[in-house]
Amino acid sequence: MTGTRPAGVDDLPALAALERDCFGAGAWSSGILAAELTGVPDTRGVLVAPATGGVQAYAVLLVPADAADLSRIAVSPRARRRGLGRTLLAATCAQAMTRGCERMLLEVQADNAGALALYAEAGFLRIDLRRGYYGPGRDAVVMRLRL
Ligand SMILES: CC(C)(COP(=O)(O)OP(=O)(O)OC[C@H]1O[C@@H](n2cnc3c(N)ncnc32)[C@H](O)[C@@H]1OP(=O)(O)O)[C@@H](O)C(=O)NCCC(=O)NCCS
Repeated sequence: MTGTRPAGVDDLPALAALERDCFGAGAWSSGILAAELTGVPDTRGVLVAPATGGVQAYAVLLVPADAADLSRIAVSPRARRRGLGRTLLAATCAQAMTRGCERMLLEVQADNAGALALYAEAGFLRIDLRRGYYGPGRDAVVMRLRL
């Protein structure tokens, strides 16, 4: 159970299921997912893991210019703590570098200890706090990795 591959439109049902399992009421709709997969290929990158077999995790990279954004990373609750998040994050950073990005930015909810630990392990540094970013009392930590 290793590696990553680019996502395709055939992965849409699996990504929608992951969204529901990982984000509940905050899940992206199938329409949003379809737009990420097909909308603006030059500024988007969607990777899934593992590279073969059923999809258990995915990540979405935005590349508007020299600074990339990690806009999503999600691992099925049944497949966590097996290194899939670490693998996807590394592959996403590599893709950003290939596209000429100098840094990667992300926002993560301040109480999301698992994601914060994953990003810190990969070398991301906390650079800001955005109060109320996710709603009242739900702050976002802004993190940056120099690629
Ligand atoms: C955050 C998330 C992507 C991590 O995925 P994962 O595949 O479980 O992470 P990994 O197994 O690759 O973990 C790598 C390292 O990150 C850290 N880590 C990951 N999850 C952790 C947790 N729940 N608690 C503490 N540390 C954690 C650990 O250092 C871990 O290494 P270790 O297992 O050797 O201790 C996953 O928990 C998830 O999908 N959460 C719900 C969606 C979400 O919050 N996404 C991020 C915001 S968009």
